[in-house]
Amino acid sequence: MRKKITKAVFPVAGLGTRFLPATKASPKEMLPIVDKPLIQYAVEEAVAAGATELIFIIGRNKRSIPDHFDMSFELEATLQAGKKFEVLKQIQNILPKNVSCIYIRQAEALGLGHAVLLAKSVVGDDPFSVILADDLIDAEKPAMQQMVELFGLQGASILGVEDVDPSETASYGIVDAKEVSPNVLELHGIVEKPQPDEAPSNLAVVGRYILTPEIFECLENVKPGKGGEIQLTDGIAALMEKQRILAYRFDGKRYDCGSKLGYVKANVEFSMKHDEIGEEFSQYLRDLIK
Ligand code: G1P
Repeated sequence: MRKKITKAVFPVAGLGTRFLPATKASPKEMLPIVDKPLIQYAVEEAVAAGATELIFIIGRNKRSIPDHFDMSFELEATLQAGKKFEVLKQIQNILPKNVSCIYIRQAEALGLGHAVLLAKSVVGDDPFSVILADDLIDAEKPAMQQMVELFGLQGASILGVEDVDPSETASYGIVDAKEVSPNVLELHGIVEKPQPDEAPSNLAVVGRYILTPEIFECLENVKPGKGGEIQLTDGIAALMEKQRILAYRFDGKRYDCGSKLGYVKANVEFSMKHDEIGEEFSQYLRDLIK
């Protein structure tokens, strides 16, 4: 029987330099889209896809992430006393009871590949998912769930990919892949952030991965790559020499919340759909552009 994917890794140790000064003392993953931090959207996506062990690779200034997922006794008591039962329910139910969180410190920001490698002792011999919270994906069926279902059929590592404008290849891991069935491609190559004239395609890896545990051995052996960092992309390139890897064009809309423009777009569109403020906000926008 194929192993179930119950472990999700969240690398959240980046410095968030594109969002300074907002990220000087607090992590970019805690930036809210309307009223929920990015990391909570990522966690909800993982949980919807069956994850029960959440592994956060955290760095300096990230204490607010464990705090966010811990029970807040004082806050709950205050809300209870003030009879604010609706909000109380929201903060009590951030994580289902069967889900646990594990925090690993990345003492030095040595790269995404290094961050994922730190999860090795907890992940062990199981396939696992990786979610980058600054890639927010709005989809009818959560993107990671789509990928987990594909894994159930194929049993191979899977990279979530999306077509990007050819001028943007230097911001992504770019794949060389051949379509084997609708939206499913077989990986033949992968390069970290190539310039457009060197890119094998315009198909970019976005922050969703399902990886087999053999990735760890590959990451242990990769040399620092682009930007002097241990790149996950280079680990995946090495894994590809040993195993079949798939790329999957998921169904959904991605917002690059690591960039200011993507972040603001996500806030506008999520606000328009929001239960509490959606209608009023949409009207406000219509009036504004009149
Ligand atoms: C990372 C990866 C890159 C991937 C991207 C997706 O880059 O290194 O391969 O395409 O995430 O968001 P970062 O955006 O962290 O620089």
